[in-house]
Amino acid sequence: MTQESGYFSEEKSAEVVIARNAACPSPRLAQVMEVITRKLHEAVKEIEPTEAEWMQALQFLTATGQICNDWRQEWILFSDVLGVSMLVDAINHRKPDGGSENTVLGPFHVANAPQMPMGANICLDGKGEDMVVSGSVRDTEGRPIAGVRMDVWQANDEGFYDVQQKGIQPDFNLRGVFITGSDGRYWFKAVKPKFYPIPDDGPVGKLLGALGRHPYRPAHLHFILQAEGFQTLTTHIFDPDCRYISSDAVFGVKESLLADFRKIEDPAQAEAMGFKSGWFWAVDYDFVLAH
Ligand code: BEZ
Ligand code: FE
Repeated sequence: MTQESGYFSEEKSAEVVIARNAACPSPRLAQVMEVITRKLHEAVKEIEPTEAEWMQALQFLTATGQICNDWRQEWILFSDVLGVSMLVDAINHRKPDGGSENTVLGPFHVANAPQMPMGANICLDGKGEDMVVSGSVRDTEGRPIAGVRMDVWQANDEGFYDVQQKGIQPDFNLRGVFITGSDGRYWFKAVKPKFYPIPDDGPVGKLLGALGRHPYRPAHLHFILQAEGFQTLTTHIFDPDCRYISSDAVFGVKESLLADFRKIEDPAQAEAMGFKSGWFWAVDYDFVLAH
């Protein structure tokens, strides 16, 4: 029997394993496994784990898989807190100059949110601080884009999405789909979002605790913008005054996604918007879609 690269040894460990995969019919899989094998063996050689430590790592990975179900995806959370979700996102969405930047989708998107007329209020339970969000959707030449499907969702002012509080919040609370007209403009009513923790009652939450990291995401609104002939934009806008703006648990914040949340203390304007409190938050944010 031939031994192309000899028997396994500490020195040649990666080389021997990579050679064993030489008959792989998929060049991409062969490349991926070669890189991962090389880097993983390098990491193990640098760390020199004890057997107990390696078992602890395997138990962490086991628990990460075991907590997953149809709605709980702990592997994605693990990728998120490692910054890998944002790295994959960055590699796959290198925008031409001027295009709005992507960020993570997150686990709380719901596919069939109701379509609403411009100006509708996505807050169905009347709880939270009133807010008006408006702006334009343009191409990189500055031309308004008509027919953009804008899917919006956000947490309430206690930091929970409707799907996390079934029976407490109405279904589809703080979600809506809006379609831009020929002016490319959009506007809708909502409530000021609040920071919230990513699901932290599982292995990833324990890992964050052990690392001395908090599990919070800064206050944000989610958007998916789709238009014929343009790249789909999956993004957020963030409240720059949120206490967690510089330490997002999943690294989703980009400077270009910081919006201006202005407090409008004008009872006449508030009344014209149908708000009873006499004041509201106003956020103007323009999106640019790339081809
Ligand atoms: C979110 O913003 O909904 C989210 C993103 C990543 C992990 C958890 C939540
Ligand atoms: Fe979110």
